[in-house]
Amino acid sequence: MASGSGDEEGDTDGVAWRLIEPASELSKKRCRLLYSPLGHDADVCLFYVKGEFFAMDARCAHSGGPLCEGDIEEADGVLQVFCPWHDYNFDLRTGKSGTSLKQQVYEVKLEDGNVYVKHAGRLSLKPFLKT
Ligand code: FES
Repeated sequence: MASGSGDEEGDTDGVAWRLIEPASELSKKRCRLLYSPLGHDADVCLFYVKGEFFAMDARCAHSGGPLCEGDIEEADGVLQVFCPWHDYNFDLRTGKSGTSLKQQVYEVKLEDGNVYVKHAGRLSLKPFLKT
């Protein structure tokens, strides 16, 4: 796995590993919404399923449904989230759907007990203040 620059500053300074929080905290919930200063459409869902973290765009590629609120099911060894709005399914690992749509997914790594997501902008568990 290629490593990012480690630069945590700036909103659009290129793709880098973004420190989120210790895994011990993030694993307490099935999904956490990661806010992006780039706007609502750039927010990310961080799922914790079966001992593994997965990151994908938080708004459904169909019409923007909140994927963090979707059901998660495993079929034939494939973990999928089902959008709560129209029930489209997305593979947590690849973002592929049973439809022609695809959800953007992001690499996640664990380092020294912390979770990092590889993303083009900063990500935060708290909303960014609008300026
Ligand atoms: S908005 Fe997600 S399936 Fe329609």
